[in-house]
Parts: sequence; structure tokens; C-alpha cells
Amino acid sequence: KVTSEKVLNTKVMGHRGAALLAPENTLSSIRAAADAGVTWVEIDVYLIAEGGLVIFHDDTLDRCTNGEGVTRDAKLNYIIGLDAGAKFSADFTGEKVPTLLEALECIQSLGLGLNLEIKHDSADVGTIVPAVMDMLKNHWIDNDKLMISSFNLAALQMSYEIDNERHLAQLYEDIPANWQEELESIKAYSLNCDYTRLTQVQAKAVKAAGYKLLCYTANDPQAVESHWTWGMDAVITDDPTKFAFLLVP
Ligand code: G3P
Ligand code: MG
Repeated sequence: KVTSEKVLNTKVMGHRGAALLAPENTLSSIRAAADAGVTWVEIDVYLIAEGGLVIFHDDTLDRCTNGEGVTRDAKLNYIIGLDAGAKFSADFTGEKVPTLLEALECIQSLGLGLNLEIKHDSADVGTIVPAVMDMLKNHWIDNDKLMISSFNLAALQMSYEIDNERHLAQLYEDIPANWQEELESIKAYSLNCDYTRLTQVQAKAVKAAGYKLLCYTANDPQAVESHWTWGMDAVITDDPTKFAFLLVP
């Protein structure tokens, strides 16, 4: 497995940028995370019509933008014309849905690490994975500042086939019985899971097997206090300011 110690140099990763501080998965959200002192952000990449790649979480457009319809069917010109800020707060009116390329450039210009989550819902793994890997190959410079994650094992297996040097993270809501076999099949770097469903026994087994253990989405430090003692390496949080005590100034 890929075990480089210098990769994950933080205990706090911003979720969708910093989703409680600015509209999720926007450039403002990424900047807000950096302003709060984080060195890594998680964002979601979504395949839209005609092979476009944007930073977006939902299968439909209405929760986060002034648009409507199914995200996968939307054309790039339509999506980038939407307002992705006003529903969060009027202060962010005019904020856009970033393309993957815009996000990669923004994150690197801020010197941050990136956990890029490949969204597979209703998208074709065979289309999105090669497109994302190609974009990373051409536009992401430091492999030690990059983690690729997905709930979809097939997506991670395909990314491993395309480039076996990437740091891959298998996402789970509930950790299945055969997690070790799944992680081994992609030479995973990390297991990223829902902290509310993780048990101490599972956490210790993941650490004993040599993987990083990241937990989402923790917005209350007290709720994950015990998880640190179980071996959790980092939290993925909507509000990094709550975890400022874990951030190196
Ligand atoms: O990567 C952790 C977390 O982002 C996974 O869930 O639905 O927020 O993308 P979701
Ligand atoms: Mg995500």
C-alpha cells in the first residue's frame, strides 16, 4: 500500500471546502477553509452532460443553486451560469459552481492538499474516472498533496489501474465485513468513514492493518473525542474553526 508519512500532515480537513463557513464546494468555501487554517480540503467532483466535470455534491441542482433539474443532465454552460451562493447567504450572491480545473488551480494556489471525492451517483464510472485522472495528471502537481476518495470501489479500482501511485481512500457509511479485502484490492492509503457508525473495534483493526483513518462529518469536537484514542488520524469537518485547537498556527 502507499504509506508515505508526509502525505497527510493534518488532523483537520475541511468538508466541501468549509461548508458551514461559505457555500459548499465553491471557491469561497475553499478559501474560507484556508483562512481558518486548514491545510487540506475535501471537495466532490461530479460528471455532468457532455463529459463536463464540476465541483458539486447533489444529484439535483436545487438545494445549492438557483437552477433546477438533474445535475448529470445539465450542460456546463448552464451550470456555470448559476448562482451557487445566495441560498447559503445573500453575502455570497454571485458565487459560481467551479469546474474541476478551477478548483485544482485555486487549491494549489493556496498551497492546500486535496481530498477529491469522486461522486458516482447516477454517473458512469467508466466516463468520470478516466476524465478525472486525466485532469489530475495534467493539472495537479504534488502527488503527496492529493487523495482520491469514493464510496464506489469500482471507481477506485479503475483509478488504481490508470495510476497506481495515487493515494486512494475508500469511503464507507457502514464498514463492511470484507473491508480489508476491498482496501487491499486498491492498495488503499486510507479508510474514510462516518464517525457516528464507527466502533472502537473497527477503528483499531483499520489502524492495525496500517491504514489512515479519517472520519466525516464531525462538527463537534466532543463528539469525536474518543475517536482520537481509537487511532483516528483526521476529521473531515464543515467548520474547521471548531477544531482550531488541533491546527498548527
Ligand atoms: O469525504 C467525506 C464525505 O464528503 C462523504 O460524504 O456525502 O458529504 O460527500 P458526502
Ligand atoms: Mg464528499
